[in-house]
Amino acid sequence: MALKDVGNKVPIYKLKTTEEVMRYYDEWGEEDKYNRDMVDWNYTGPKETVEVIKKYLVNKDALFFDAGCGTGLVGLQLKKFGYENFHGADLSQKLLNTVPKNLYQKLFKIDLNKRIELSDNLYDSVMCVGTFTFGHVKSNALEEFVRITKPGGLICFTINEGIYIEYGFDKKILNLSENNKWEEIEFFKSDYIASKDVNAWLGLYKVK
Ligand SMILES: C[S@@+](CC[C@H](N)C(=O)[O-])C[C@H]1O[C@@H](n2cnc3c(N)ncnc32)[C@H](O)[C@@H]1O
Repeated sequence: MALKDVGNKVPIYKLKTTEEVMRYYDEWGEEDKYNRDMVDWNYTGPKETVEVIKKYLVNKDALFFDAGCGTGLVGLQLKKFGYENFHGADLSQKLLNTVPKNLYQKLFKIDLNKRIELSDNLYDSVMCVGTFTFGHVKSNALEEFVRITKPGGLICFTINEGIYIEYGFDKKILNLSENNKWEEIEFFKSDYIASKDVNAWLGLYKVK
């Protein structure tokens, strides 16, 4: 069976460089357009990932790093279930400016394709939702997520099905398992943006 051509489903998937992607988000964040589109598209990434992590992370004081936090949809979802301590990171200052006040204790404007300038073993959990997709953040970021997560901490992410193999996420995930850096807790195909016929792999991994 031929693979689904996911790259045609959403306009942003055509963009190749970080600069193009950032220009797109800077505009998309205006007048709440990104958030409104996510409601219209029934984007379920934040809800699906938080539903998975809340089964395993019972400590409501856990400190989260939300990688590619955008407008803060993951923080809002985590807050619904009683979590309170979030740091967010994104490269679009315009999107960071739209994050609801006091939702995250810290917001970092950083490029997640580069080394994350934070110390090792800092977070109880890293969430990365919607950010492993066409032209966005590459699989090396997973190594950085492992580094900044405490031993026993949890990393929960989505990977757009259209880039999972093309961008080498399959190999990176396997490599981290084989090198005893983490162990798989859950890994399955999630709905994600089912209204656009785009699904994502959803993973939850425990850092060794
Ligand atoms: C689809 S949005 C997801 C936002 C949020 N996590 C959500 O689920 O609504 C992808 C996010 O990745 C960010 N992003 C893309 N490339 C990035 C990079 N190289 N470094 C940091 N953030 C990046 C974008 O600015 C955008 O906020």
